Amino acid sequence: MDGLEDFLPQCRETSLVFFVNGKKVTEPSPDPEWTLLWYLRRKLQLTGTKYGCGEGGCGACTVMISRYYQVEKRVKHIAVNACLMPLCALHGLAVTTVEGIGNTQDRLHPVQERIAKAHGSQCGFCTPGIVMSMYALLRNKSNIKYDDIETALQGNLCRCTGYRPIVEGFKTFMEAWEGVNNVNEPNKPCSMGNDCCRVSKKDDEELYSKSKFMPYSPTQEPIFPPELVLKHDSYAKSFLYYRGKNVMWVRPQTLEELLLLKNKFPEAKIVVGNTEIGVEVKIKKKIYPILIHPFLIGEMNVITVADGFVRVGAAVTLSELEEFLKLYSEKCSSAASQVLEAIIDMLHWFAGSQVRNVASLVGNIMTASPISDLNPILMASASTLTLSSLDKGIRKTVIDQSFFTSYRKVNVTDNEVVLAVDIPLIEGMQFFKAYKQARRKDDDISIVTAAFSVKLDRNTQLVNEAKLCYGGMGPTTIYAEKSSNKMKGLYWDKHLIKIVFDSLTDELQLDSSVPGGMADYRKSLCLSLFFKFYIYVLNKIKTNGVKLVDDFELYEISHRTPNSTQCFEIKKNVKSNYDTIGKPIVHASALKHATGEAIYCDDIPILHEELFLCLVFSTESHARITSLDPSEALIDPDVIAFLSASDLTKEQNKMGPILKDEEVFASEIVTSRACVIGAIVAKSETAARTAKDLVKVAYEKLQPLIITIEDAITYGSFYSGYPNLLQKGNIVKAFEVANYVKEGYIRTGAQEHFYLETMSAFAMRKEDELEIICTTQNPAEIAMQVAEVLEIPNHKVVAKVKRLGGGFGGKESRSALLALPVAFAAYKLKKPVRAVLDRDEDMQVTGYRHPFLIKYKIGFDNNGKIMGALFEIYANAGNSMDISNSMIERASLHVDNCYYIPNVQIKAYLCKTNLPSNTAFRGFGAPQAMLAAEAVIRDIANTLGKSYEEIATLNLYKEGDLTHYNQSLQYCTLSRCWHECIDSSKYWQRKKMVDEYNRANRWKKKGLAIVPTKYGISFQTDVLMQGGALLLIYTDGSVLLSIGGIEMGQGLFTKMIQVASRALNIDISKVHINEMSTDKVPNSVPTAASVSSDLYGMAVINACNVLNERLEPYKIQKPDGKWEDWVSAAYLDRVSLSATGFYSAPKIEYCRKKNSGNLFEYFTYGAACSEVIIDCLTGDHQVLRTDIVMDLGESLNPAIDIGQIEGAFIQGYGLCTMEEMLFSPTGEVLSRGPGAYKIPGLSDIPKEFNVSLLKGAPNPRAVYSSKAVGEPPLFLASSVFFAIKEAIKSARNDAGFATDFTLEVPATCARIRMACEDHITEQVKPTIKSKGQPWNVVP
Ligand SMILES: Cc1cc2nc3c(=O)[nH]c(=O)nc-3n(C[C@H](O)[C@H](O)[C@H](O)COP(=O)(O)OP(=O)(O)OC[C@H]3O[C@@H](n4cnc5c(N)ncnc54)[C@H](O)[C@@H]3O)c2cc1C
Ligand code: FES
Ligand code: FES
Repeated sequence: MDGLEDFLPQCRETSLVFFVNGKKVTEPSPDPEWTLLWYLRRKLQLTGTKYGCGEGGCGACTVMISRYYQVEKRVKHIAVNACLMPLCALHGLAVTTVEGIGNTQDRLHPVQERIAKAHGSQCGFCTPGIVMSMYALLRNKSNIKYDDIETALQGNLCRCTGYRPIVEGFKTFMEAWEGVNNVNEPNKPCSMGNDCCRVSKKDDEELYSKSKFMPYSPTQEPIFPPELVLKHDSYAKSFLYYRGKNVMWVRPQTLEELLLLKNKFPEAKIVVGNTEIGVEVKIKKKIYPILIHPFLIGEMNVITVADGFVRVGAAVTLSELEEFLKLYSEKCSSAASQVLEAIIDMLHWFAGSQVRNVASLVGNIMTASPISDLNPILMASASTLTLSSLDKGIRKTVIDQSFFTSYRKVNVTDNEVVLAVDIPLIEGMQFFKAYKQARRKDDDISIVTAAFSVKLDRNTQLVNEAKLCYGGMGPTTIYAEKSSNKMKGLYWDKHLIKIVFDSLTDELQLDSSVPGGMADYRKSLCLSLFFKFYIYVLNKIKTNGVKLVDDFELYEISHRTPNSTQCFEIKKNVKSNYDTIGKPIVHASALKHATGEAIYCDDIPILHEELFLCLVFSTESHARITSLDPSEALIDPDVIAFLSASDLTKEQNKMGPILKDEEVFASEIVTSRACVIGAIVAKSETAARTAKDLVKVAYEKLQPLIITIEDAITYGSFYSGYPNLLQKGNIVKAFEVANYVKEGYIRTGAQEHFYLETMSAFAMRKEDELEIICTTQNPAEIAMQVAEVLEIPNHKVVAKVKRLGGGFGGKESRSALLALPVAFAAYKLKKPVRAVLDRDEDMQVTGYRHPFLIKYKIGFDNNGKIMGALFEIYANAGNSMDISNSMIERASLHVDNCYYIPNVQIKAYLCKTNLPSNTAFRGFGAPQAMLAAEAVIRDIANTLGKSYEEIATLNLYKEGDLTHYNQSLQYCTLSRCWHECIDSSKYWQRKKMVDEYNRANRWKKKGLAIVPTKYGISFQTDVLMQGGALLLIYTDGSVLLSIGGIEMGQGLFTKMIQVASRALNIDISKVHINEMSTDKVPNSVPTAASVSSDLYGMAVINACNVLNERLEPYKIQKPDGKWEDWVSAAYLDRVSLSATGFYSAPKIEYCRKKNSGNLFEYFTYGAACSEVIIDCLTGDHQVLRTDIVMDLGESLNPAIDIGQIEGAFIQGYGLCTMEEMLFSPTGEVLSRGPGAYKIPGLSDIPKEFNVSLLKGAPNPRAVYSSKAVGEPPLFLASSVFFAIKEAIKSARNDAGFATDFTLEVPATCARIRMACEDHITEQVKPTIKSKGQPWNVVP
């Protein structure tokens, strides 16, 4: 900005000095646009810190920042999100990354060791962030409790593990565990009771041995860099000025300097935590040319207590505020500290600790978000801001309705600076409380926040003054003035409630098009939350200590520490000491995940002359491209090229895994916003990202625009060949003879994969060959498609995958979207090319789990026995076929779930819409279909007035039964799983308790439900049922194994190492798998369908057998020799020590025309029982307990398999409850990051989670009697959905509403609340005016 430099003091520091992992880093000219994450990964090549979202919502980038406080003479440590941390804010501070605390070569840190050995890492992409959150906690606090762990991990997401093993591993840092393990009483249980490793199980019955963990000693931690203490003054007090290309960073030393700056440059932004500005810059692409960091301004960095209020400096962080308030409110009377208590409570639900550690209260106020959590509290308490400016001096302003002038605008002039906020202490008969309702409890922005204040007359108890304030109900924080005024002079009784309800209903108006949607829910919440406040106050004033209603019951669902058990059998009849089959071996890369040494696609070191590629996506859902102009983007000399359809022939431009119905670059028509129009290739990521937004595309919109399944039905928009018909028996006759015929439907939305590692690709041209490393579950197909686009033979393209940071089906076919342009660019430009999708791009273009509508008609007899069923299945496939044809076949084949249906007709429709192409997702259509079967069972029970358990048991498949596709069920353990689950969960006993609870409670209800599952194992296509392996033995006896499958956290490589170790009878440490590469194992099938262990396990055995045979003579020659001796002897004898292995599964003898023969190799069975509690007023819920019994045959590795069960369950739980992808009516994706799309967090896991593997059920049809596990358990999470439905049923019953109702999936808090119909919902619903298009639609 012109003139800034002349304005600044001459004596200013322009270089940045900080420490990373104990080493001094001096950056002579830091750019204020650099984030710490970018600097660590790209400049320092410390790639252990991961990029997961770039918006503070996933925790993958967590690092620890340490700062020396001179007055206190101590160092404080905080966990922060490196993605939001401006590098320039780090002058004089120390950064610790995961690489800085331990490594696999020298010494692991106990946090790293314990998360890895407790099996808390699967794909490992979240692991470094989780390690650093835990590490920062331990550095800051001794004697940690469980709540500390949960709070520390609030801002960390894991998509694989289901969190249970992570917290189990970390619980060992709790004082009780460490304490007992360090004393000399080896067998004494600690205060962890049954959890104590000493009283629980023997080592060989546990998934890991806690007693072998390294002890944790805080004294062993690295010291804080002495230079930062010795030279504290020069670091902490200097005036800083950093100049970048677009942005300048200033750190003034005094308030005067700050005010002068703001006066001269009013547009300059004050930045504290950067949690709002950082997101605006990243997502909304804002540029703020001057940033002022008020780090040194004394009055802005303190909290003081004055007469009647607490003054919070504007640069004080939320964590500092929380810590202070907790200590201070203990000293105050409980009446006086009510506002402070409300803030403390709210801060627990505010973001994650990494955000709270840097964000400020004033930053929240000044952002003026209508969904701010703190502004309603500040407004209801009439808190006051102190502002200062050069022209007006000091000014005070109360935070009231006039303060928030419009959407994100406040009544503060540009040259003013907020110095502090005064939060009042209250007195007399005043009551204050705040409530927040969000999709997810932890780390979520609110849907509605409310803060209520009421003053009663001490003598008459009439209302003197009331203030009802809401967030989430309009463009600003709202003071419901009319309703508040109407309360004056009223008694606190039912009459008041009626008046307030009527008034709020009238005063708070929302229509059906309101941004954020859920108008009826949000309005109902306003009343429900006030009702909670009413009861809270009532209890305080009316009862002389005796409670009228248990207010806590009404306030929130109580918090409990989660517990778990895992029950499995370790085979004792092992073949040798080396035999690890059936043992809970730790994931082969777990330690590397935990230390940040594991390399993912984007961790590959930067190569000389490397280029970065960004895709330009369509901004229309259905349109003709009328012009395409990249000229503005190409002005920047760092931009090398713009690639588009004109660079390819029509043939080259075709892509698609089966149909080739997509284009690499859209040439003429775009059919969704995921269509790639072109690619910018530039010398830097920043240049590429800036340039891609400068490419001008003009469109002519086309009709029709088809977004939802319902739209597709209206327009008859189905893929050709659909509906597909599958039938058995005579459905017409079945309905004729049935005693009852019932119709219904089940509707599910889209689920985002949310793998923590976004799509990335890296390609290098080597002579006329190309090597591509990318995030794919199907490297062979990528190589083949690349070869086709480049028009070179497949043997000149090698695709490699070392590991994926999660896939879950999302990287099975959609990876081509990015990989093909990257490969083409690298080949054409003859330079290495890298690309990484930002999280928002990934979420907008890579497709989802298919939304479904299943209409059913079911005929049954008086007992509830199913006679026949008709299903119409509609799946929203999006704009291209992708692999939706296989998906919908699997859906049709699983619509029976576990129930025998003698007569069936299934019509399956693949809807062609203008959404991004939907794709594989764990379960592959089966979970959506199986939900229909469970809905059917419950409908029958409702109709007959019987229990659903009775109907389910009556119809459950038995050994030898024929499915609707006429496969006979052999070795069917379904009934065993079902009954063992009933027993182990104490189902009947708990059902009684749930009923009793529900009789006694009106606003909280419990529900209990059990569901079975049966999942067919096979690709349903012969050609895909093959697997290859390559085994190389080196002369030192080490073995390098390659397989056609990839490792994405599911433990495939670990299991294959175990298989090879048994087959060769050598220790697992001798076997290594490096990566999947198409030049080692060709023509591999996608790592999908849960069959990889089965296919590659057999291929590995096959390869081992070949080499065993070759080594046999040398073993005979030297029977007491060692493996190395035999290998050496064979080598000297010129025997080949490499072999391929191959397996092709028995032919699938299924004839689609005749609907007969066997489609699946076998089935994986299981059952789960879940108990939930719901809050009928808000729609919140918590899973109290889940019990799972799963038949995995003889598990190859119970730790990995239980991890798969738990991980799949939590992913399925997200599908069933909180994961709701939102789309606008024109097909725009509205859920673009972890801020808007909520996957389950740590506090969502069942409070008791018991998993048992069925014993004594070997599977004769897969490797070493095991069974496939990846996908089958996901559906078991529907037990939570149906338990929620049971709870709602009870609420509806109490309120006199029909108990036969439809609940769509996911059962979000909004759906739960609105299904618990009552006088509030009845009052609110008719007042929602329909206006224009709704904000969102269900796809
Ligand atoms: C992952 C994530 C989760 C979040 N969760 C929540 C949540 O649960 N609830 C919620 O309410 N918010 C949430 N937020 C929003 C945000 O964290 C808060 O608004 C936060 O309090 C902002 O503080 P900050 O210090 O980081 O602000 P910054 O980004 O540094 O600044 C924000 C604004 O305040 C202005 N400002 C700051 N200080 C002053 C001053 N002294 N004088 C004048 N202007 C000033 C800045 O110029 C800027 O315009 C979340 C954000 C993220 C990234
Ligand atoms: S990458 Fe920083 S929080 Fe997600
Ligand atoms: S292990 Fe946590 S995201 Fe994969």
